[in-house]
Amino acid sequence: MKEPRRHPLIVGSGIAGLYVALRCREMGLRPTIVTQGRLEESNTRYAQGGIAAAIGPGDSPALHFADTVRAGDGLVDRAAAKLLAREAPARIAALVRYGVPFDTAEGHIALGREAAHSRPRILHAGGDATGLSIEETLKRRVLEGGIDIEERTALRSLSPGGAHGPVALVARTAGGAEVTHESRPVVLATGGAGNLYRQSTNRPFAMGEGIAIAFRAGALVSDMEFVQFHPTAFWRDGAPRFLITEAIRGEGATLVNQAGERFMPGAHPDAELAPRDVVARAIDREIARSDRPWVYLDATGIPRDRLFARFPSICRFLLLYGIDPSRDRIPVAPVTHYMIGGVTTDLDGRTTLPGLYAAGEVAATGVHGANRLGSNSLLEGLVFGERVALRLKAPRAGAPPAPSRTLALPPVAGKGSVEDLTTLDRLRSRLWEDVGIVRTPDGLRAALGAFETLDREVEPAGRGGAAGAVANAALTASLIARAALERTESRGAHFRTDFPRRRESWSRHIGLRLRAPARRRR
Ligand code: SIN
Repeated sequence: MKEPRRHPLIVGSGIAGLYVALRCREMGLRPTIVTQGRLEESNTRYAQGGIAAAIGPGDSPALHFADTVRAGDGLVDRAAAKLLAREAPARIAALVRYGVPFDTAEGHIALGREAAHSRPRILHAGGDATGLSIEETLKRRVLEGGIDIEERTALRSLSPGGAHGPVALVARTAGGAEVTHESRPVVLATGGAGNLYRQSTNRPFAMGEGIAIAFRAGALVSDMEFVQFHPTAFWRDGAPRFLITEAIRGEGATLVNQAGERFMPGAHPDAELAPRDVVARAIDREIARSDRPWVYLDATGIPRDRLFARFPSICRFLLLYGIDPSRDRIPVAPVTHYMIGGVTTDLDGRTTLPGLYAAGEVAATGVHGANRLGSNSLLEGLVFGERVALRLKAPRAGAPPAPSRTLALPPVAGKGSVEDLTTLDRLRSRLWEDVGIVRTPDGLRAALGAFETLDREVEPAGRGGAAGAVANAALTASLIARAALERTESRGAHFRTDFPRRRESWSRHIGLRLRAPARRRR
């Protein structure tokens, strides 16, 4: 008799999903990967800068930890950050063992510099194709390992099951039959929610549906107000918001306004290498002062050979638009990039729902605080992915502690009148305009009202296609706006005009969960 409870269902195929699957397989479990598109389609594939680990001379996990805490603006979970920094070298060794071809210099792994890191500690591969190299390598290993894969299959819903795991309903994305999985652990590795915003570096499928589905099933979510904007995405009408990695600034590129003046030295002592939230807001201020929605990244001071060797994908992309970055300035602006909040987990990836785990961007471990340090995200998928795999092998009871501020929200039953994708378009614009880099109380209230109305009007949860996408997007968007309205201060990636400063009384996380339905009186 097989023991289904030992064999996890892993939802998502970015770095966290693939890594958990590989490690589970090595530990004798038989995981199944379910993924919305093809196996290799994920945000991981497009990660450029790299992956952080304290492996260089003069560096240490203690310094990596300190940088992570400093960037996180007073809200980093210190135990999670300690683990992240301490376990990073071992997880890098695992990637090397799988065959990830990290770039080298003079026989050692080459290390780049990124904003708010006090040491060069960013490993990269293929210059600026780090995510692609990792994704392809892990994918190859997954295929060689004979791991079960169900492509073009999406998670539709979760509901609390027994102690061994929730009930998961999955279905082919193109209207296929639904399959129910019971009594097996489920690992959410569905990634982020950046594409809920009109302007984003994320791929189209990063719509936060894992968060919505887990929340509806009763899981606690937290830190939803912290949506990270990447300061430098390519900005040209009609062009994709292609990421221009922070590592270019690490190599010496500067930011200049329309008048050709550097503005970061006046904004922060670390200038272009200030934490991401600081750089994004400084650019936003410059843009507000000018008549154009972008500033420029000037990489012309970097020798041409070096620039093209270190950042081949970016240079190739820019040349398509007639920009030679060794001669021309690059138009850039901040866009959404990373969801810091998500499904609340403990350090072993356990959520508040028995048998439901989360790893990678969909999870909220508290490791990033209010502002993620660059190149800690791929690392997070590995470090906490490893711990999820270990816990799946040797399950233990327990759940993450609830944040001190937890709001219980009423359940919503969709009426089914809205299910078209133009609604989704409007939602993305609204988030971008009213729940963006700079937030006003009126904007937040109006956005929350709009998302909650939409949430009531969309198709009932659990449907696929456009209806399901709108339902999940409306719910995740409302969770972001709700948490942003609740946090009456500015901290990290969350900035409010009515409370422009950090308040010590807010040094805590905000949790959101579904209110239990009222018991009927007999
Ligand atoms: C970048 O390459 O600038 C992005 C890396 C990250 O988001 O961690």
